[in-house]
Amino acid sequence: MRIVYSALLACILALILPLPHAADYQQTVLSAPPREKRVAIIGGGAAGTSAAFWLKNAFPATAKSGVRVSTTLYERNNYLGGRSTVIPIKDDPELGLFELGASIFIERNYNLINATRRFNLNLTGLTELPFERGLGIWDGKDFLFEESGNKYWDVAKLLWRYGYSLIRFNNHLESIINRFADLVYHGKDNVSPFYDVDTALGQFGLETLLNETSSHYLEKRHGYAGLFVHELIQTATRANYGQDVHLLHSFGALVSMAASGAWATEGGNYQIFEQFAYRSGADIKLGSTVVSIHNTTEVDENGHYIKNYVVTTEDGTDGVYDAVLLASPMHLAGIDMPFPNADQAPREYHTVHVTVIAGVIDPSYFGRTADTMPTLVVTTGDPLTSNFENGEQPFTTFGIHKYFEDTGEYVVKMFSSKAMSDSELDKLFISRSWTYRKEWQAFPKLFPVIEAKEWPPVVLHGFDDDSNNGVLYVNAFESCISTMETETLASKNAIRILRDQWCQDTSCVPFGDGWGDNV
Ligand SMILES: Cc1cc2nc3c(=O)[nH]c(=O)nc-3n(C[C@H](O)[C@H](O)[C@H](O)COP(=O)(O)OP(=O)(O)OC[C@H]3O[C@@H](n4cnc5c(N)ncnc54)[C@H](O)[C@@H]3O)c2cc1C
Ligand SMILES: *[C@@H]1O[C@H](CO)[C@@H](O)[C@H](O)[C@H]1NC(C)=O
Ligand SMILES: *[C@@H]1O[C@H](CO)[C@@H](O)[C@H](O)[C@H]1NC(C)=O
Ligand SMILES: *[C@@H]1O[C@H](CO)[C@@H](O)[C@H](O)[C@H]1NC(C)=O
Ligand SMILES: *[C@@H]1O[C@H](CO)[C@@H](O)[C@H](O)[C@H]1NC(C)=O
Repeated sequence: MRIVYSALLACILALILPLPHAADYQQTVLSAPPREKRVAIIGGGAAGTSAAFWLKNAFPATAKSGVRVSTTLYERNNYLGGRSTVIPIKDDPELGLFELGASIFIERNYNLINATRRFNLNLTGLTELPFERGLGIWDGKDFLFEESGNKYWDVAKLLWRYGYSLIRFNNHLESIINRFADLVYHGKDNVSPFYDVDTALGQFGLETLLNETSSHYLEKRHGYAGLFVHELIQTATRANYGQDVHLLHSFGALVSMAASGAWATEGGNYQIFEQFAYRSGADIKLGSTVVSIHNTTEVDENGHYIKNYVVTTEDGTDGVYDAVLLASPMHLAGIDMPFPNADQAPREYHTVHVTVIAGVIDPSYFGRTADTMPTLVVTTGDPLTSNFENGEQPFTTFGIHKYFEDTGEYVVKMFSSKAMSDSELDKLFISRSWTYRKEWQAFPKLFPVIEAKEWPPVVLHGFDDDSNNGVLYVNAFESCISTMETETLASKNAIRILRDQWCQDTSCVPFGDGWGDNV
């Protein structure tokens, strides 16, 4: 809103003030007639592909009024999906595909759930096992807590160990998630976009969940038991974000706790993002790395000044655009940009080593037999680390996903903060027929922040008094939380900014919830 008002003010001033050249110039730029707008999206992950899809629905080619948009999507990889991607088990697609990055989403992730319905993709659980024994919390010597696979018995055990904290926390979580869902999803056309992360936090009622560590928020502010926070909550934060509760903010902990009972897309979550991209009508350039973006000023056929952007790829090709959406973490994009605020509040990302193994597990590592071994082991974090060699957990999670009856082999996925060495793996497996390693810059370090300026900027350039064109950083919001769903929400906000900027002098069709019903 701030930007709309100041643009309006500039217009009025230009009309009433006598003759200053600068004002004349501004008036010319602002009153340029609607024409085709060219948009570049950099990044073909959850954020970039959904941005292309929302964009098509915001400015449909069939609309009788409004702005025409043409979209180009640049993706460095030769595939769409980014951090949502699969690998064939044992390099053999016949044995199934396996999620290497983002695996799960929840019922309340309405964009993803809606997408699977619309695109006729099936939902599936996370594991394909003939047995399911659930979670074991491993401190290096013992399982502190363990599920049995029997739901009722497991709930009883949870209540026995964590007591009233668990019930109270469930209600607490439910109310926060409901409030978030209300604010985020039930807004219609009149939702004003946010131009900075701080405004978003206010809009979504999240400020108090991002300015404190989870342990402070849960133990000190809300009086939850230490055992509950350091065992159960921390298990969730370690499994989701590889980060302990004394480091990560409370929103990170709440999102992690909400992740139980989750879904995945049969055949791979990346298909959602492929569908977003294919259905957007964008010109998709795979294997195309953007190396620089710079602003320029053009004069159009009517003699109006237009501020726009040159996007250059590694092979030296230039494209000129009215808006550019950067839909990748900035530091991983490696793009040269002359924009002064581009390095505001940079955030380090947490490294996650993913190791996928096909092999025969050695359950004696955990003092167990094959049929008493939990199917998901999560190691304890700070301060419960004294039973690990040098106080360091060799891994964060050890999850059994699949069983091959004919060979007696399991497919196991492990997350760790350091690469798993062969000798470490040999302690966990009797034999291995396949080991696949991948290092991700997985998600931001989700530490709390106090000051507004500690968030990266959403507007990197433009969208100001002089110009309704500009460059947006879709992944700015990822510094608060990193999930596939929230990336599709951040991208929807970017498209709302474009509507806010481009639909002032011309009546665009309603955007609604972005799904293209134009209601
Ligand atoms: C191991 C792991 C587990 C995870 N688990 C979950 C989970 O269970 N559930 C969940 O919701 N989230 C999970 N996440 C987080 C989730 O993956 C991310 O929040 C989300 O996928 C980010 O999407 P994005 O589009 O913003 O970024 P990305 O998926 O990273 O997409 C950015 C794209 O931009 C491209 N790109 C970058 N620079 C350039 C350039 N210069 N030119 C052209 N292209 C460029 C990249 O190649 C990439 O494809 C997990 C992440 C990891 C790594
Ligand atoms: C999901 O799709 C339905 C029907 O197409 C639509 O009414 C609803 O608003 C969508 N929900 C969200 C959160 O986009
Ligand atoms: C979804 O499941 C149905 C029924 O099992 C199957 O026929 C269909 O092919 C599946 N769709 C996809 C996209 O996998
Ligand atoms: C976080 O914000 C809340 C609400 O504004 C405030 O009460 C609390 O003191 C803040 N915490 C810190 C550590 O500043
Ligand atoms: C690029 O933008 C800056 C303001 O951020 C401006 O000073 C400069 O003149 C612009 N360059 C061109 C070529 O338009």
